[in-house]
Amino acid sequence: MKKKTPASKYPDHLVYRLYEAAVQSAEVHARWFDEVYGEINGTTPNLLREDFCGTFQISREWVKLRPKNFAMGLDLDPKVLEAGQAFAKESLRAEEFQRLLLLKKNVVSETRPKSDIVIACNYSFFIIQDRKKLIQYFKKVRKSLARRGLFFLEMAGGPGMQEQVRETKVIKGIPLGTGRGTKKASAIYFWDQKSFDPITRNGKYAIDFRLSDGKWYRNAFTYDWRLWTIPELKDALTEAGFSKVRVYWETAHRGVGTGEYLETQSGDNAWSWIAYLAASC
Ligand SMILES: C[S@@+](CC[C@H](N)C(=O)[O-])C[C@H]1O[C@@H](n2cnc3c(N)ncnc32)[C@H](O)[C@@H]1O
Repeated sequence: MKKKTPASKYPDHLVYRLYEAAVQSAEVHARWFDEVYGEINGTTPNLLREDFCGTFQISREWVKLRPKNFAMGLDLDPKVLEAGQAFAKESLRAEEFQRLLLLKKNVVSETRPKSDIVIACNYSFFIIQDRKKLIQYFKKVRKSLARRGLFFLEMAGGPGMQEQVRETKVIKGIPLGTGRGTKKASAIYFWDQKSFDPITRNGKYAIDFRLSDGKWYRNAFTYDWRLWTIPELKDALTEAGFSKVRVYWETAHRGVGTGEYLETQSGDNAWSWIAYLAASC
């Protein structure tokens, strides 16, 4: 007789909760995009489109910022969108949830209504490795933006992104289920930089998690990226029709960053850095 596979004691969505806890700081991001839009345009944005949205954590924060805010999330993977919907239902009020629109859709798409802000976070657009295809994507974003619209790209670089290393971090307080009394887990997050090719600038990366009871999620997320440089992206955005590209660089990198990003024309030669581009229509 065939043995029954025992049901996992872990919910299917746990791996996405681990990802959110280890990698994202969505509230800070939502507030920062709002603030920069206000500084540049002197007005308040309302509709945000989150590309490569995954569990659309930034969109969930965006609708909480202001009752007039709406968010649209685009991702190709139905599983991750479903997990995000479960998280949204437990963390948002019904009225906030209604201001979210989730689309199982390629980001290389023109969307309506036109957005005030489009974001591509956590270097997700590095998945597009061909310049023509990158420009095609940027053109679709530009056509999806309203007047005074801004396109934010979160990117990373420096030798520290290219060396073969495995970094770890402990993450705590991850809810195993839903509701108040749910048990919480802790885990170790592993960021594995597997390879980098200086000729193609192709980098391969993976995320693993190990729960405190020994359960592994190996290669929970894997990435095959081209590490585009800032000047390459500025040129591609200009070619796609954006009128101005601002670069926001962290104010100091002495081992640990400050988390404060300011517009600049020139950056310090950091070992490893994160930067934001803001492209105006
Ligand atoms: C690195 S995750 C990003 C998750 C989240 N946005 C973040 O900031 O951490 C990349 C996501 O992009 C999605 N994706 C990859 N190519 C895509 C495409 N062409 N259109 C839409 N989504 C795509 C994947 O399904 C995956 O969920």
